[in-house]
Amino acid sequence: MSIDNASQPIKTLRIAVLVSGSGSNLQVLINAMQAGALPIEIVGVISNREDAYALTRAKDANIPVAVLSHVASGKRMGIKTFEGHANEQLIAWQPDLIVLAGFMRVLSGSFIDNVPAPMINLHPSLLPVYKGLDTHQRVLQAGERQHGCSIHKVTAELDAGQVLTQAVLNVDINDTAESLQSRVQKLEHQLLPWTILLLAKNVLSLEASTTSSQKATYLPTLPLQLFIDG
Ligand code: GRF
Repeated sequence: MSIDNASQPIKTLRIAVLVSGSGSNLQVLINAMQAGALPIEIVGVISNREDAYALTRAKDANIPVAVLSHVASGKRMGIKTFEGHANEQLIAWQPDLIVLAGFMRVLSGSFIDNVPAPMINLHPSLLPVYKGLDTHQRVLQAGERQHGCSIHKVTAELDAGQVLTQAVLNVDINDTAESLQSRVQKLEHQLLPWTILLLAKNVLSLEASTTSSQKATYLPTLPLQLFIDG
């Protein structure tokens, strides 16, 4: 991981991305990498679905892909088999950071503990509330005034690792689950690169809940929040 000070330039973070769907968040990272706006190299993309549009995005950017389909030969690939292949692939790519961006399989504790780099996940709620699925619908049903997305460290317990960053919006009286999904996704597209930049600059660390540089610069306690409603 990099150190941002006068004597040591920021190291390029090698990132592996795990996806299951459209890959709009992956596209944001590809665009930032290609524009030189983030100090990252996307070293590979793993999908558990062979029809994920994210694969097209990766191939168009000449990024190596691994398809570990959970519908292999018409028979669902067991999680252990998936994790064995995924771990081998990650070891080969040697990432500094693994990003779950719309990855929809629950991973086992032993996989999470043994992957070759720290792992972060993008989740569409203001954790610790609304873990799991259908977050937008549940937020509306509960009459919440605020909603958003979180990036957290991945631990064995689902959506329960240290929350690093959040982006927050105000729920509008006319919002539907669909409009909230669209509005939250726009926040995700800002939150993910911002968080990766903070990690690359060592403002945030995945080693512990606070870093020496956070203490030194009097940053607030985690999670850091972005209010970018508009
Ligand atoms: C995101 O909205 C994320 O919150 C959810 O899955 C979606 C992935 O979107 N877990 P994309 O594949 O990056 O377009």
